[in-house]
Amino acid sequence: MSVSVLVGVQWGDEGKGKIIDVLTKDAQMVVRFQGGNNAGHTVETEDRKFVLHLIPSGILRGETDNVIGNGVVVDPVGLAEEMNALVARGVDVSRLQVSSRAHLIMPWHKLLDAFNENKASKGKKIGTTKRGIGPAYASKANRTAIRACDILKPARFEALFREQAAEYNRIYGPLGAEKLDPDTAWKEVSAAADQIRPYVKDTVLSVNQAAKAGKNVLLEGAQGAFLDIDHGTYPFVTSSNTTSGGACTGSGLPPRAIDCVWGVIKAYTTRVGEGPFPTEQDNATGEFLRTKGGEFGATTGRSRRCGWLDIVASRHSCMVNGVDLLAVTKLDVLDELDEIKICTAYKLDGEILPAFPADVEDLARVEPVYETLPGWKTSTASARSMADLPENARKYLARMAELLEAKIGIVSIGPKRDQTFTV
Ligand code: GDP
Ligand code: IMO
Ligand code: MG
Repeated sequence: MSVSVLVGVQWGDEGKGKIIDVLTKDAQMVVRFQGGNNAGHTVETEDRKFVLHLIPSGILRGETDNVIGNGVVVDPVGLAEEMNALVARGVDVSRLQVSSRAHLIMPWHKLLDAFNENKASKGKKIGTTKRGIGPAYASKANRTAIRACDILKPARFEALFREQAAEYNRIYGPLGAEKLDPDTAWKEVSAAADQIRPYVKDTVLSVNQAAKAGKNVLLEGAQGAFLDIDHGTYPFVTSSNTTSGGACTGSGLPPRAIDCVWGVIKAYTTRVGEGPFPTEQDNATGEFLRTKGGEFGATTGRSRRCGWLDIVASRHSCMVNGVDLLAVTKLDVLDELDEIKICTAYKLDGEILPAFPADVEDLARVEPVYETLPGWKTSTASARSMADLPENARKYLARMAELLEAKIGIVSIGPKRDQTFTV
């Protein structure tokens, strides 16, 4: 029985949803601790495909408690829609809890996100999901935000809502941001809040109680290490701590409660949105990975940028996350390649860099140093153990683990639940 954190160690979309779903088979609680509905976590069961945005990926297994923790920013309208869509497909959402301490994404946050992105000049755009994430976390840091506990006091909630909607129109209207009609917006938000109210709980308590009772608790990270507000490729990041440290602040669990950190890593690299990406292959290789890997955003549908595995980046994020075990996904996407490259070092102005650089201007200029490994040219989709894999695929995984100084615990060779094996 243990508490495990699962995080993406690249730029998001590593397959976290799939691995959470697999691990949930043996868990009693799944907790989201940061981000919001900017996430898109895909779970393919035997015959159905689901994309979760805000609701933990454990919701598809009936017996699991699913918690939206205090570190998450919650769009009540988005959450109500996601719940309704799941219920319409026969999924039971009664075991959902929303932290009373979670901050809310309000309509003006979404308008501000779009306004900021649209007015940003080339090179300054972040390529956000326009879900209002950054402005909602900014309100939290400004100490002006509305929280889920305000939903429990409807009169206070409405007063705060109207006051802040008017403030938004007053400040941003003259700057050219889209005006908000407070009555229409309130109607939509209050209907969603009415639906969510019964799920608002003191989750800091329920999560700690579950951990103390020796239940298996899984903390589901969203995004990836290089989108972390502190450790990512700032400013081309999201606005939360996506690394394992965020699991404590975003759930209320103390650091000593964490027994294991899973790092999910794609067998190659992808990134969606703007910002430097040293191993990007803006060529036929990138196109091959995009097509074979179905690399289109689960939230926005945007094409994901694709490239080779980047050890310099992933080694840095394994260090920051304190990864105990790696879950390697999408190995099957490499099946047809003649040879596969791994970036083992960065050169800047002719010198090998000792570490992953802090400055994105430097990162944009680094020259990746590659090691080339032979492909295996065999389908891995039906492998159910290391022994089933072709020798060159085993060698690729072994080299990855060696370079990352980490142990592989799970290998995923397809999107379905059963296309997974433990090592
Ligand atoms: P997440 O955001 O980390 O949960 O990842 P996404 O769901 O955004 O993107 C991962 C995509 O890869 C989804 O379409 C998954 O169904 C798919 N996927 C996950 N694991 C594998 C795998 O091992 N092989 C293949 N081919 N697809 C996978
Ligand atoms: P999951 O959980 C990949 C990216 C956006 C943009 C940047 C900031 O599915 O891995 P935001 O809307 O958060 O302010 O956008 O972060 N981004 C993601 N990229 N996977 C995600 O989530 C992402 N969530 C945000 O594309 O570059
Ligand atoms: Mg995703």
